[in-house]
Amino acid sequence: MRIFLDTANIAQIRQGVKWGVVAGVTTNPTLVASEGLKDYKSVVQEICAIVDGPVSAEVTVEGVDAMLAQGRDIAKWHENVVVKIPATAEGLEVTAKLAAEGIKVNMTLCFSANQALLAALAGAAFVSPFVGRLDDIGQDGMALVKEIMDIYKEYDFDTEVIAASIRHPMHCTAAAKAGSDIATVPFKVLEQMMKHPLTDAGNARFLADWRRVSGQS
Ligand code: E4P
Repeated sequence: MRIFLDTANIAQIRQGVKWGVVAGVTTNPTLVASEGLKDYKSVVQEICAIVDGPVSAEVTVEGVDAMLAQGRDIAKWHENVVVKIPATAEGLEVTAKLAAEGIKVNMTLCFSANQALLAALAGAAFVSPFVGRLDDIGQDGMALVKEIMDIYKEYDFDTEVIAASIRHPMHCTAAAKAGSDIATVPFKVLEQMMKHPLTDAGNARFLADWRRVSGQS
């Protein structure tokens, strides 16, 4: 399973890339707005210059024609840009058209197996089931990821599954066990994935013992 960072924060992306584990980035209008950033295009282009992998940028308009026009424009921002389109009926039409033009689409806000099935049939490169938001309303978000993986395997779909709306490290483990192609995670969760108190305590002890026998203070 690859890891994407789910953020528009440049410092976090730089750090994740330094750790050698970030294979892509997903953004959305809320994440960009939370950075207080105005120009979506320059933010996405800056991210593309840092990360060598898919960078999702979402349309911010409604209606087939407007989403199509904006999607085509976003796709020109950088060769690694993936256009995020909502999993609606209009979004499906837009996805089919953009995919036919060779533009990579990430169907976002996916909350059902049928939405994911249609996303694949329309030619989406990625589909993003929102695990945490389903958990929030008392449904099993990871069960949806498993369901989509089963369906995609059954029919050999090329669409890659991005487990999204990840809230904690256990979501990452579960997504990996479910066979998800990718999990897109907030920076805090990426930090939590590597953190273990026994590692820290063990390392501190090793270093202290070494300092003692080697005469270092
Ligand atoms: C995915 O591409 C979305 O940006 C993201 O995972 C949404 O997560 P949230 O439910 O924490 O807002």
